[in-house]
Amino acid sequence: MSVFAVHVFLGILLCAPYQCLDCPSGCECFAVTRTVKCVSKDLLTVPQSVPGYARTVVITGNNIHQIAPNSFAEMENVTNIILSNNRITEMTSHSFSALINLRFLDLSGNQLALIHPEALSIPGSPLQELNLSRSLYNFTALTDLTTALRWGGLRGLLRLDLSGNHLALLPPGMFSHLPNLQQLFLTNNSLVAVYSGTFSGMNHLEVLDLTRNAFKTFSAEALQELDRLGNVRILLGDNPYTCSCEIHNFVIWLNESRAQLDVDAVRCTSPRALSDTRLRGLSVQAIGCVVPVQAEVADLTLQTSYVFLGLVLGFVGMVFLFVLYLNRKGMKKWINEMRDACRDVLEGYHYRYEIDSDPRLGHISADNGGGSSSRRAQGHLRLSLSQQLPNDTCIVQVPSDAKVKQVTATPPLNL
Ligand SMILES: *[C@@H]1O[C@H](CO)[C@@H](O)[C@H](O)[C@H]1NC(C)=O
Ligand SMILES: *[C@@H]1O[C@H](CO)[C@@H](O)[C@H](O)[C@H]1NC(C)=O
Ligand SMILES: *[C@@H]1O[C@H](CO)[C@@H](O)[C@H](O)[C@H]1NC(C)=O
Ligand SMILES: *[C@@H]1O[C@H](CO)[C@@H](O)[C@H](O)[C@H]1NC(C)=O
Ligand SMILES: *[C@@H]1O[C@H](CO)[C@@H](O)[C@H](O)[C@H]1NC(C)=O
Repeated sequence: MSVFAVHVFLGILLCAPYQCLDCPSGCECFAVTRTVKCVSKDLLTVPQSVPGYARTVVITGNNIHQIAPNSFAEMENVTNIILSNNRITEMTSHSFSALINLRFLDLSGNQLALIHPEALSIPGSPLQELNLSRSLYNFTALTDLTTALRWGGLRGLLRLDLSGNHLALLPPGMFSHLPNLQQLFLTNNSLVAVYSGTFSGMNHLEVLDLTRNAFKTFSAEALQELDRLGNVRILLGDNPYTCSCEIHNFVIWLNESRAQLDVDAVRCTSPRALSDTRLRGLSVQAIGCVVPVQAEVADLTLQTSYVFLGLVLGFVGMVFLFVLYLNRKGMKKWINEMRDACRDVLEGYHYRYEIDSDPRLGHISADNGGGSSSRRAQGHLRLSLSQQLPNDTCIVQVPSDAKVKQVTATPPLNL
């Protein structure tokens, strides 16, 4: 009882005229604007017992290192929280999950090194705007954040600021779990390239800000990825564009793109002769581009080589025909010889067929069952056949399993 009395007494004593009894120490509470401000008070933790009417809580310029799971308990009606410049390094699991009406969260100007995968999970996905400008400590924090964006179920997020984080590379599909994102700020980073899939999954994007990065050009792949976003506003100014031939595709794209671009801010940084010249409208000659000329030359060379090949083939064919013509007599002779030879062979076959079908010769092999006597009989038959067959130079091999199928010619005499 006495402890309670002391508390009440101290409360009345410490309460400034414009504050109410339950305003946390180091903070100012404004009932009319429903705002609580705790600015540059070297607070080490998020103040507790914020009045129930508060909708906006501003806690900036303090020394709060960690956002703990219970940091925002009993703030279910708060819609805006500004936590910029507090040297926050760690966000634990479900850091904000008590803030079921939170629309706006500003974490800019911190040093987030540890982000729990479920740090941004809030039941009902009420969050619409997240400011992480100048808040990621290093690349590990970026990968942590990518996981937290994936696990956070931030389906209602409309606006995301990741500017000033020294980002050189965006993990593929980093934003693919933010299906309703409308504005993405990647300003003032060190991005050098966009890849296929960098901006996948965002179907409602309206503004993409890539100003003040380190782009020297955009590859065909990058331009395709930008095209996939459709009719969005893309800001590409203040990048160190190098206006050499490598920028050719980008110039064509700028010439033709249907996206809303800040073309006046897209200017060459080098070479010196083109410094501060607008990229759109630059001619192929201006960027010293020789690629199309080379292509034409290559094309011409190819055509020439085809013509040459045709000429050579034609010449070879003509020489062949000419040789044939010169040898026409020899050819004729050769053809006649071939014809005669083959006729002889055919006649031989014919003869043999007649012998085969002669019943008087058929009994010779049928009578002889023994191996040696049958071979002798065959030899005899062969001898008698060769005497009857005409002499020729054709030797025809026939399988020897048949009874009388070998046609043996007498040794050629006229070779
Ligand atoms: C939040 O608002 C509702 C109604 O507006 C009220 O009943 C509830 O007590 C409020 N919560 C807090 C923690 O003040
Ligand atoms: C995010 O915060 C920074 C600094 O606190 C501010 O300059 C910037 O405008 C904010 N981003 C958005 C999208 O409001
Ligand atoms: C980022 O910082 C954290 C904490 O200091 C450290 O553990 C980690 O190794 C750093 N990562 C990189 C890529 O430097
Ligand atoms: C860009 O970011 C750096 C640190 O990342 C910061 O010092 C600088 O002020 C920023 N510039 C602008 C114009 O926001
Ligand atoms: C871009 O368009 C301009 C005319 O608007 C044209 O002169 C120039 O050659 C085009 N550049 C390229 C690379 O096609």
